[in-house]
Amino acid sequence: MGLVSAACFAELGHDITIIAIDPVKVQAINEQQPTIYEIGLDDLLKRHIGNRLRASISYDSVKSADIIFICVGTPPNTDGSANLSYIKSASALIGAARRNVPAYCVVVVKSTVPPGTTANIVCPRVLKSANKTKEEIGFAMNPEFLREGRAVADFMHPDRIVIGSMDDRAFHYVAEAYHTVDVPVIHTSLSAAEMIKYTSNAFLATKISFSNEIGNICKKLHIDVYEVMRGVGLDHRIGPQFLNAGVGFGGSCFPKDVSSLISLAKTIGEDPLILQAVLEVNKQQPNRLLTLLRTRIGNLNGKKITVLGLAFKDNTDDIRNSKAIPVIQELLLNGARVVAFDPMAAEAMRMLFPTVTYCHSAGDALDGADACLVMTEWPEFGKIDKEFDRMKTRIIIEGRRILSCNGTEGICW
Ligand code: UDX
Repeated sequence: MGLVSAACFAELGHDITIIAIDPVKVQAINEQQPTIYEIGLDDLLKRHIGNRLRASISYDSVKSADIIFICVGTPPNTDGSANLSYIKSASALIGAARRNVPAYCVVVVKSTVPPGTTANIVCPRVLKSANKTKEEIGFAMNPEFLREGRAVADFMHPDRIVIGSMDDRAFHYVAEAYHTVDVPVIHTSLSAAEMIKYTSNAFLATKISFSNEIGNICKKLHIDVYEVMRGVGLDHRIGPQFLNAGVGFGGSCFPKDVSSLISLAKTIGEDPLILQAVLEVNKQQPNRLLTLLRTRIGNLNGKKITVLGLAFKDNTDDIRNSKAIPVIQELLLNGARVVAFDPMAAEAMRMLFPTVTYCHSAGDALDGADACLVMTEWPEFGKIDKEFDRMKTRIIIEGRRILSCNGTEGICW
């Protein structure tokens, strides 16, 4: 999110310095090498590195900055709450860098943080280490809504820009940075902006788990949930997006943000029933896929199972919370021989499961297989119909609806 936002702000015409703690990443960025896969990012780095975009391990550039965005990670603690240690250290270091700088600047939190974090954690830490007042440094919260793999397009063409701020001056500073992006800008309080991010992700995750639950019911009734959701989603009050039933949501955001919201709710005496059910449905979906597989091929021991797709979704090499992980784990535990193919994520998965055989093509992975599980919605899987002829037995179960050939069965359809 930090790298994409920096490259996109450079594209909007601003002078940007990325501060990162890993010197290897800093060097790669300065050599125009993206450290993550994102469509369009390499072009932006080629255009702007050496010009108005650079990376550094030093906080020096903070001294002359008008706006400082905090984009550090907020990974989950073991209890599901957000770990704010990177937010705290970045705040203190930003404050220290501004100590003897008389000019006004705005510190903006872009990381996903629990409501209250910007006002109660970031603001006091920055001001204390800078030895300044709220009149000298402004504070804002500007959540991102970037989907992995499509983050550059989402940044340049968002549905809305949300800016929470402590005062009007800070708001106008941040709004100005986006002035060439022609979309509604919503001005809120700091904590409302923080809550908008959590609520957006929780609602999208709810849509998916809801569709999965309806899909599980449809499956038993021999109804195609995709036909159902097409009819449902055309109601403009509902909307057609994020109704694709399947093996459940993964990634670095939905599972973490829903857990963090549940944990936050519990600290204030709330028992968030819907949010807990969203995670529970999501946890059960891979088990349903495996149950379906067992009803088709019986004992898994010694069977050759092909897993198509390892990334948590298409167009990324990211495997964080990928639904392929619990599925592969269970297959291996039960003595199956797992052969996998993913256009991008094999290397990452190899670190987790070195005993899996990783192939260079879907066809090779399918050769002689007893069954195939589709775990990621890679569009290219829709064009490999002939490769399934290489299977020993044609048992194909889709966790994501993406294939175009006959003789497949879906987890919820
Ligand atoms: C998400 C949000 O969409 C983005 O706004 C936020 O800022 C970051 O988190 P991302 O995690 O990159 O983005 O992926 P997204 O496209 O939202 O998909 C998340 C997961 O949900 C994937 O595992 C995907 O396969 C699954 N999904 C998505 C479904 O199962 N069904 C759907 O209909 C849509």
